[in-house]
Formats: sequence, structure tokens, C-alpha cells
Amino acid sequence: MDKARARLERLWHRGREFLGAEYAVMGGAMSWISERHLVAAISNGGGFGVLACGSMPPGLLAEEVRATQAMTSQPFGVNLITMHPDLDTLIDVCGDLRVGHIVLAGGLPSAAAIRRAKATGAKVICFAPAMVLARKLLRSGVDALVIEGTEAGGHIGPVATSVLAQEILPVVREVPVFVAGGIGRGEALLSFLEMGASGCQLGTRFVCATECIAHPNFKQAFIKAAARDAVPSVQVDPQFQVIPVRALANNATRRFTLFQLDMVARVKAGEIDVKEAQLRIEHFWAGALKRAVIDGDVENGSLMAGQSVGMVTREQPTTEILQELVDQALAALDAREGSVPALVRC
Ligand SMILES: Cc1cc2nc3c(=O)[nH]c(=O)nc-3n(C[C@H](O)[C@H](O)[C@H](O)COP(=O)(O)O)c2cc1C
Repeated sequence: MDKARARLERLWHRGREFLGAEYAVMGGAMSWISERHLVAAISNGGGFGVLACGSMPPGLLAEEVRATQAMTSQPFGVNLITMHPDLDTLIDVCGDLRVGHIVLAGGLPSAAAIRRAKATGAKVICFAPAMVLARKLLRSGVDALVIEGTEAGGHIGPVATSVLAQEILPVVREVPVFVAGGIGRGEALLSFLEMGASGCQLGTRFVCATECIAHPNFKQAFIKAAARDAVPSVQVDPQFQVIPVRALANNATRRFTLFQLDMVARVKAGEIDVKEAQLRIEHFWAGALKRAVIDGDVENGSLMAGQSVGMVTREQPTTEILQELVDQALAALDAREGSVPALVRC
């Protein structure tokens, strides 16, 4: 095992150094649930928690950052959404509170936003959904990248994690790259490290952490679900754009298809114009994640989940989830020495 530990240490050394964490495992920000409890639990457990700012106003963000700082002395990051109307103020809040890592998500951040975030002294992490965007972000001075494949929960791009990893990891060596999307076990984490990743980011796997405030109904839906239940949102007409989101199929996803068909029919009948129909389609999901994850309405809310949901089998303490990932990676490495079987059955 000592050899395996040393090898793992070499593989994720850059990621650990960058994050300042024991493990180069980021807990991806998840709106509503990546708040003080889960974030502190991940960071205290040796990973790197990331607070989800979502649509929080600056005052609330400051409160959440302070509360998290009170619960952990370990590093954690803050995820800001680039289209937030108060983005600059939110960045300043992070600066005032000495947040060490700012994740700019939800669209390509401007070079000015990256500069402002870096000027606070924080390390800036951005999502690169394609090689050309990775290059652009590097030119803007980003400190690390997350490449997230379509297997992930929440808002998704079209390309698989395995393909993004092959396209980007061998080429981008300037900054640490973290891989996300569909990672549920340590063997997968290890395989991306061996391809050149500095670490990984997981979201779905942490939803059923004991410390996660997700409603018990939301957690039960995850525990029952298989990979194939986590599907991207359906767009029925090329004219009416739907932002792709991966979530568990439920009553709301079925109603959404019918709702779009109704909007298309109304436009054709001249009852409403295209702009109005598009707006109504976009508003369909407003407040839907909160309805499911906080209120527990798992039939009418959005059950954002990645395909790794099939590997979520029970509620577990965060430390146990992290330890499992590390143990699986170590066992896989150790197996190459021929001493133990590759598969850790947990
Ligand atoms: C319920 C849920 C909510 C999410 N909310 C956000 C968010 O607000 N901002 C963000 O950048 N990513 C969000 N994500 C994506 C995660 O941060 C993470 O990148 C993703 O879950 C990794 O893929 P995985 O789900 O396959 O582990 C969300 C994911 C889930 C499952």
C-alpha cells in the first residue's frame, strides 16, 4: 500500500497543492445544498468544498462565507454565476473575506471578471467545455480549469467526460485541470489522474452525504435511481431553445415536454408570439430545484442528478464518501503490484 500511496501522491500532487487540500477532490457547487454544512464537511474531510452562491445577494454570500469559515479552518471555494447582476460586488465580498478560490461558472466569464477575481488574491477556476474555450480562458489568466462532461448533474454540455479528457488533458499543461461528470468511484478518479488531470470534481456523489441538507425525499430519489434515470432535458422544437440540464425523470420532466408542445401549437395558432413562448419555456423551471431539493416535492421539482447517481446507494457521512474514493484508487494502484484484487466492494 505504501507504493500505491506514494504513486497517488505523485499523481495528484499538483491538484492538492493548488487546492491546499489533503485530497484533490472538489465537491462541485450545487445550488441550495452546497452551503455551509456540506462545504465544511467536505473540506474537513480532506476534500475541497465549494459554496454555491447561485442567485444570492452579496449580504447573504458574506453571511454564508463567514458561517463556513466558522465551521472549517480548511480551504474552500466560492462558486459565482457569471450572469449574476452583482457579480463584481460578489467578487469583492470574496476578496474582503479572503476567499482563497473563486469558481466562475454558468457561462464564459469575461477577462475583466477573471482579472477582478484574481486581484482579490484568490485563485480563479473556470469551466472549459471545449478546447478552444480552454485556450481563451488561459489567455485571460485563469489559474485552473474544470472540464465537465455531459454525464454530470445540472447544466451540461454535449461532450462526454471521456472525450473532453482525451482532448484537453494531454494538451493543457499550463494550469491544473480538474475533471468532472460521471465520476462515482476512485478507479475513475485514478484513471483521469493518470491521463494528466490534477484532480476531479464530484457533485452527485455528495448529495446523499449525511451533512447535506437536501430533503429526505430528494435523497431517497437518488438512492433509488439508476444511471439511465438521469436524463438531459428534452427540446421538442429546434426554434425554441431549451438549456440542457441533466435530472432524474419525473412528473415535471414529462409535463415540460407537453408544455413545450402546447407553446409551439399556440405560436402556430397565432395566440402568442415566438418571444413570449420562449420566455414561458424558460420560466417553466424557475424555482424548480429548490422545490425538490429543499421542499421535497420530487414529482414537480427538478431532480438535478448526474449519471453517477446509480452509484449512490445510501446516506453516508462525507468523510466516508471521500475515504471510499481514496481507498478505491489506492486498491486499484495496489492491485497492479499483484497484492490485492482491484475492486473494492463498497
Ligand atoms: C443538484 C445539482 C446542482 C448543481 N448546481 C450547480 C451550480 O449551482 N453551479 C455549478 O457550477 N454547478 C452545479 N452543479 C454541477 C456540480 O457542481 C458538479 O460539477 C457536477 O455535479 C459534477 O458531475 P457529477 O454530478 O457527475 O458528479 C450541480 C449539480 C447537481 C447534481
